[in-house]
Amino acid sequence: MNRQLLAECLTHLQGALKVSALYPEGHPGIQNPLQNVTRGLSTLLEAGHPLVLGIVDDVLAFDEIPFYETDTVWRTIFSALRGRGIESITFQSGIEANEILGILHILKGTDSGETADLATLWKQHDIRHASYCDTLLGDDVRVSARRTYEESLGLVVEMMTELRMGRIPSTRSVIEVVDGMGEIILQDPNALLGMAMLKSYDQYTYNHSVNVSIFCLALGRHLELERDELLTFGLAGLLHDVGKVRTNESIIKKSGMLDDEELRLIKLHPELGAEILDSMQGVDPAARAMVLQHHVRFDRTGYPERLASAEIHPLAEGVGLADCYDALTTTRAYQRSHHPSDAARIIQRCAGAAFRPELAEQFIAMLGTYPVGEAVRLATGEVAVVTAKNPLDATSPVVRIVLDIDGNLLEETRRVELADPSEARRRIVASVNSLAKGIDVATILQVDLKD
Ligand SMILES: [Fe+2]
Ligand SMILES: [Fe+2]
Repeated sequence: MNRQLLAECLTHLQGALKVSALYPEGHPGIQNPLQNVTRGLSTLLEAGHPLVLGIVDDVLAFDEIPFYETDTVWRTIFSALRGRGIESITFQSGIEANEILGILHILKGTDSGETADLATLWKQHDIRHASYCDTLLGDDVRVSARRTYEESLGLVVEMMTELRMGRIPSTRSVIEVVDGMGEIILQDPNALLGMAMLKSYDQYTYNHSVNVSIFCLALGRHLELERDELLTFGLAGLLHDVGKVRTNESIIKKSGMLDDEELRLIKLHPELGAEILDSMQGVDPAARAMVLQHHVRFDRTGYPERLASAEIHPLAEGVGLADCYDALTTTRAYQRSHHPSDAARIIQRCAGAAFRPELAEQFIAMLGTYPVGEAVRLATGEVAVVTAKNPLDATSPVVRIVLDIDGNLLEETRRVELADPSEARRRIVASVNSLAKGIDVATILQVDLKD
């Protein structure tokens, strides 16, 4: 697109914004600038694709062209978007003057102390040929997801240290941490699911505990569990392997095959974990049951073997599923990680044997067709990493493009919402192996999670 034409249109928009801030609604003084913007946008839209005006890394961008002079020339537009918490506005062909007027009123709303939320205002002004992307809430959730993940990790490290020193960890702080994660999962599970896919092998045991808790909470949300039950499920996920502090570290860290005796010792961890939960005050007995039973399989293989014919808490199988998914998607000394949809397929194959079919199905549905962290090839030939699933359309998640059509790694990855009609040409055609493509999924996910 011609930069000059775009700049002209921005100038008109800037003028109209200034005028609309000066005159009351309906004042004839707004008519000329408004007509200029409408005409400018309509001309640009004749190119046949929607136009996106937004802020990318603190720079105003219009139709993907950066306008660096934000501090001076485009200040009015820039601050209006920022002030409203709008990341971008997408204009579609057919946009009319009254819709643009509505947008102007919304944008200048910060000056007049307008407090209604964007969705309501958008509807009130009947804006049909433009949509907005508001990221303030999203950013908040992402930032708090990261903070909460780190707090949870810190708590697990502290708890394990206390236990090794023979002390009993505080139930209250464990509950607080799970509460925090549950709160975020209920708002938007994507951010924490993304954190759970940033596999840090150095601290496997600790990360694994937090990740399993996240997968349990996300599954619990998907199953629409009551809040209390959801948190108990998350708590069990966090503490499921706590018994391993009482297993000799050399066995836990051993990378080769375990001999029979070592295997016998490691299989004691669910019972040792249950004992630890018994010693903690105020832990829900259901959480204890889930910890004790998380390795008992649907077909009653697994351990402790004495429970083969006992009644198993239904969510204990959920902890087992979450445990299995995290282990499969993490690179370990003895295994290269599986990519997320592969791990989901393995779980599917185990349905009816290791896992209860209905529960495995729900777990896979929770992950989505293209789980967070999955690398996918787009119809354009580009390769992207899934950063958030789209609850309304499983096949159109939010992705970050990492390889161009020639297979070159992009220095600057780009976030794309595949559900956006203007991105129709980018539909997903297949999953690809991120390792083979040299994609560092953790780093890509981190771009979306950075503060
Ligand atoms: Fe375990
Ligand atoms: Fe585990």
